[in-house]
Amino acid sequence: MSDNASPLQKHRYTYQPRVPALFKSGKVTVVEHGADPEVPVDAADIKALFPNTFGKKVVRLAEGPGEGLKSDALTIGVVLSGGPAPGGHNCIAGLYDALVAANPKSKLLGFKGGPKGVIDGSVREITAEVVEPYRNTGGFDIIGSGRDKIESAEDLAKCCETLKKLGVQALVVIGGDDSNTNAAILAEHFLAQKTGVQVIGLPKTIDGDMKNEIIESSFGFDTAAKTYAHLVANVCRDAMSSRKYTHFIKLMGRAASHVALEVALQVQPNITLISEEIKVRKLTLMDVVAQIVDMVVKRSEAGRNYGVVVVPEGLLEFLTDFEALLKDLNHIHKTEEEVLQSYDTDEDRRQFVHSKLPAESSKVYSSLPDDIQHVLLRVDKHGNIPVSQLETEKLLIDLVKLRIHEQKRLGKFKGSFEPLGHFFGYEGRCLAPSNFDADYCYALGQTASYLIRAGLTGYTAFISNLAAAPEDWIAGGVPVTQMLNMELRKGKMKPVIKKALVELDAAPFKQFEANRSKWLVEDAYKFAGPIQYYGPEEVSGVITETLRLERS
Ligand code: FBP
Repeated sequence: MSDNASPLQKHRYTYQPRVPALFKSGKVTVVEHGADPEVPVDAADIKALFPNTFGKKVVRLAEGPGEGLKSDALTIGVVLSGGPAPGGHNCIAGLYDALVAANPKSKLLGFKGGPKGVIDGSVREITAEVVEPYRNTGGFDIIGSGRDKIESAEDLAKCCETLKKLGVQALVVIGGDDSNTNAAILAEHFLAQKTGVQVIGLPKTIDGDMKNEIIESSFGFDTAAKTYAHLVANVCRDAMSSRKYTHFIKLMGRAASHVALEVALQVQPNITLISEEIKVRKLTLMDVVAQIVDMVVKRSEAGRNYGVVVVPEGLLEFLTDFEALLKDLNHIHKTEEEVLQSYDTDEDRRQFVHSKLPAESSKVYSSLPDDIQHVLLRVDKHGNIPVSQLETEKLLIDLVKLRIHEQKRLGKFKGSFEPLGHFFGYEGRCLAPSNFDADYCYALGQTASYLIRAGLTGYTAFISNLAAAPEDWIAGGVPVTQMLNMELRKGKMKPVIKKALVELDAAPFKQFEANRSKWLVEDAYKFAGPIQYYGPEEVSGVITETLRLERS
């Protein structure tokens, strides 16, 4: 253990994750889940692309003599993929412990820096000494992570070479929807090439958008959402104490608004925008601005010249007018990028863009502040407009300010409006996992080990019944191909796991919708507090509102 560990760190190293009671019995076997596998919408296409892995059954772990489970020494590879999420280290710890418990001669190799590490053969052996200081810690730093995908024929060939050279019999891919899709591609490729290497995925992402009937939640969501809820609640308390600022807080979540919705349910800020609802209601940027202006005016009339607005990171792409503008701009970047970038100044580029945009989009573009217009003039190395770099909270502040000034000029607003912008994102991704995530991830790692020993490939490990105590959780595996559908990606139809967006007819949104009007003018804030690792179960073992409402 590192000498400069804090008292909390020291305690967390010794925390024993709670796992399904079944795991403790040591008598585990893999059986069919029993539920009929759901047929994917694009079954024919998926079957054609994945002839070797399509049509497999959902499985679960059950008490049994462990017949048919491999007990010989295995060499397993593990890779972390995408953004960090609390609990990743416990997935590795659970995997390691279960592997060596089954056979002390088994070896675990961590590929460094994400999928690229598998291509390049960059490894760190995970031994008992290596894993020890990472138990129950946040971050992905034990081996690092990356956003590369192993897709091209060349990369697939290099990957096969690496695994063969290292004697790896199975690879565990810890990642979100795209990474688990990549796991399915690898599993299919390895079967077609008869390499014998199995592939198992684990469902990770703080965004909470890799879930379905079987996978109840992605790991990391619990810890990240609780952290943001704590931070937002602190800002609410500051707002009602100093009574002078209106805070605009953008929260991470690349596309889906699960994080924002969870924070809304835990904290009850004055307004929480939910992108999925905005899309269904076909709202424009100015509709959203009008909604916020209305709140500012009403609160001011009630003597509250302060407030808190929560904004999901992906908002802009869900706004009807902004979505159309992005589509038009993307078309210009795709077809006329060279001409566009040949201009010397941004002013000239702007003129060019205006000359090409349809009238409606041109109007929306001119209504945006300069810095936003500037970002939209360029694309990243993949040819995409870097939408996530747009400071949505500042954009809303600028536009609301203009409207409020206008109202002031007309004598309709007599209060004060002092906005402040925040972005909470990276603050929540590498925190020591909550007890829920520590237990969940450790159990996921162990489950991966059982699925491997059962000889399975092309599966994502799952733990269900998550609203119950960990001892009652159910573990198993779902074939990745069962979760795939065909989507247009960069101009081509590709198999991908469908992102789970916020469902407007599901319990969490319904609960929010039924109560939000009470939170607009009143100060109905709830103070979630920091994550509690110790203490009474109703505090240290509390689950997210999303999970409680969806599964209790
Ligand atoms: P994953 O989907 O890989 O888990 O990452 C999610 C996320 O944290 C998003 O919330 C955020 O938009 C994005 O990663 C930021 O990515 P980066 O780490 O590359 O800045």
